[in-house]
Amino acid sequence: MNSGAIPPTAPPLSARAPGKCILFGEHSVVHGRPELLLAIDLYTQVAVRVASESRLNGDARAAADHPYLTAALRRMWPPGRPPLDWTTVSRVPRSAGLGSSAAFCAATATALLAASGGGERSILADASFAIERSAQGVGSPGDTSAAVAGGLISLNGGSGAPLWELGDGAQNWVVRRVRDPGWVWLVVYSGIPRNTAETVRAVGRRLAEPDGPALLERFAEVAHAGIAAVEHEDRAEVGRRLSENHLLLRDAGVSHLKLEALIEAVAPAVDGAKLTGAGAGGSIVALPKLGHEVEAQRRAQRAGGVAFIVRPSPTGAHLVEVPA
Ligand code: MEV
Repeated sequence: MNSGAIPPTAPPLSARAPGKCILFGEHSVVHGRPELLLAIDLYTQVAVRVASESRLNGDARAAADHPYLTAALRRMWPPGRPPLDWTTVSRVPRSAGLGSSAAFCAATATALLAASGGGERSILADASFAIERSAQGVGSPGDTSAAVAGGLISLNGGSGAPLWELGDGAQNWVVRRVRDPGWVWLVVYSGIPRNTAETVRAVGRRLAEPDGPALLERFAEVAHAGIAAVEHEDRAEVGRRLSENHLLLRDAGVSHLKLEALIEAVAPAVDGAKLTGAGAGGSIVALPKLGHEVEAQRRAQRAGGVAFIVRPSPTGAHLVEVPA
């Protein structure tokens, strides 16, 4: 697991960060409730070199217009420093609920931190969250913390060692390490893109209804129970809690007919399933029954999903050795 500091490194350099999948607590985490995430073994990689003008994948306009890149440069690359030429490659599907923007923010922040003299991982977690938040306008530090930490992490729950603490003035989040039980997970992208900020605002409105506070407390109970079940490696209980969390997300208004169809399609081969990420499209996550991983993947594909069997990424954001 990458838990060390980012070493000082002069460009040209490359950095990589994993996408993420939320097992419990999306949306309610924005309101300070617990969440459990795993960094997944699909990565975004950025390569950066000093150049005569700023470019992103060869395009100066793209560099000037990219909300996450411009937010990263504003925060971490003061005026007067030389322009940078960025090249990016990613295996994380975009707008799929799998943390593509968090992976981009964490990889970019890793590169800029290294090029600015290096620093602790907690600084990277803080910077990655600030960059994503300033470009997106809303949200928790869950996605970016998973991209920085790797493995499994919890926010505001769990019994593992604290990694760092982040706040936004309204909420505070303590990020902890959760031991990986060593399971594989099925992630299925519905092919329906969605906008995180819009769904976060819609759920905020739902939680402001008279029964909103009770719904938020149900989210918290299910997430606490789900995190404890992962810590105790209790697959049956994790499966039940995944499905229960999905019903709450449906009640919060962020499911989608295609997500429901995918969950139904994989049901015979999994212990539990739910939408993952912001919802209203995006992806589902399921815990395949032991020995039924490929059957679950086939079922999802037959139902029209793009299915990945994923493991937790053993590494968080890190510099990549590029062959000379
Ligand atoms: C998005 O991946 C997860 C949400 O909870 C928003 C956030 O935590 O920033 C919906």
